[in-house]
Amino acid sequence: MIPHSRPTLDDFDLSVAGELLTSGRLARGQVCERLESLFCGRFLDSEDRGPWRARAVSSGTTALHVGLWALSNLRSAPSGTCPGEVVTTALGCNALIHAIHAVGARPVLVDTLPDGNPDAEKAAERVTSETLAVLAPHLYGNPVDLSPLLSLDAPIFEDCAQCFGTDGPNGRVGARGALMMTSFYATKLICTGQGGLVATDDSELIEEIRDLCEYDHREDAKARWNMNLSDWCAQLALPQLQSHAENLQQRRQIAGRYTEAFADLREKLEVPEPCPGHVWYRYVLLTPEASEAWIEDLVSQGIETKRPVYAPLQRTFGLSGRFPVAEDHWRRSLSLPIYPTLTEGEQEQVIEAVKRAAGRLL
Ligand SMILES: Cc1ncc(COP(=O)(O)O)c(C=O)c1O
Repeated sequence: MIPHSRPTLDDFDLSVAGELLTSGRLARGQVCERLESLFCGRFLDSEDRGPWRARAVSSGTTALHVGLWALSNLRSAPSGTCPGEVVTTALGCNALIHAIHAVGARPVLVDTLPDGNPDAEKAAERVTSETLAVLAPHLYGNPVDLSPLLSLDAPIFEDCAQCFGTDGPNGRVGARGALMMTSFYATKLICTGQGGLVATDDSELIEEIRDLCEYDHREDAKARWNMNLSDWCAQLALPQLQSHAENLQQRRQIAGRYTEAFADLREKLEVPEPCPGHVWYRYVLLTPEASEAWIEDLVSQGIETKRPVYAPLQRTFGLSGRFPVAEDHWRRSLSLPIYPTLTEGEQEQVIEAVKRAAGRLL
């Protein structure tokens, strides 16, 4: 079976693992600090903004949580009711809503664009004096156009779990909002097994985030959690910072190959177009009807495919509103294997399997 996702850890130097084990320092320390400053320097700092500062944390979910928590500690909604609302998308990871609920805020969902990304115009319409943040995931690795949100007062929290190290319609992905986060989960663009990172160029905000992650050596009773990544995990990430650009290049090549191979299916199957800035964390086709039959067909041919999002968030969390574009996109979405370690032979097998499925299902 060709798996849907596979970690990319080719460059890890095993001798470093030995050094770390014998150093006596496995918890958060200098390796995490190195990862934080290298991540900001490589992916976020620019001449017009910065410098960015980051905190490496235990997961992407934690990064979302601590980012929102710090915002709510520093920023009551003007009406005085804190923590208020977080505007986010109907199509994304459950972690978005869990993090919003964890800080006691209310999620306000908006519909998506046909490509699955949040509709930033609709999000801008939902911003009010109650808004704690707008949480915008760059879904599948496709940078969101944040233009309608950039001139508003509400902080934009860019969810870069699936997309960073690239430029989108508003410049550097992750560095346009007030803060950003990413995930280092096993199948993500950079992976440490479990892990994540949150970053901002706001010095007060990063101080609050750091404070919330350290409960020790404190003399007040303010709530804090140990949310830190370990040096052990951070060490896995360091070589991947170097290979990130090359890995994105490989993802782009595979996406280009798929799109070319599926050109003659275009009349019936929605095939993603090459798109500047897209890092192709996921390659998602839209089938004419619900994608279940395609998923089953491809799995029976040894190709693990999935819907790229488990379920629209309003369904899972019983949230109000109608989100017809997100529903339609989700129902027809089919995510194919795409990752740097997918060999040319495996890519060919994926292409042939999709063509055979199309022969049966279209
Ligand atoms: C868009 C998005 N945000 C947040 C997360 C949460 O990250 P983690 O699984 O590291 O907690 C994920 C993980 O899949 C994600 O895809």
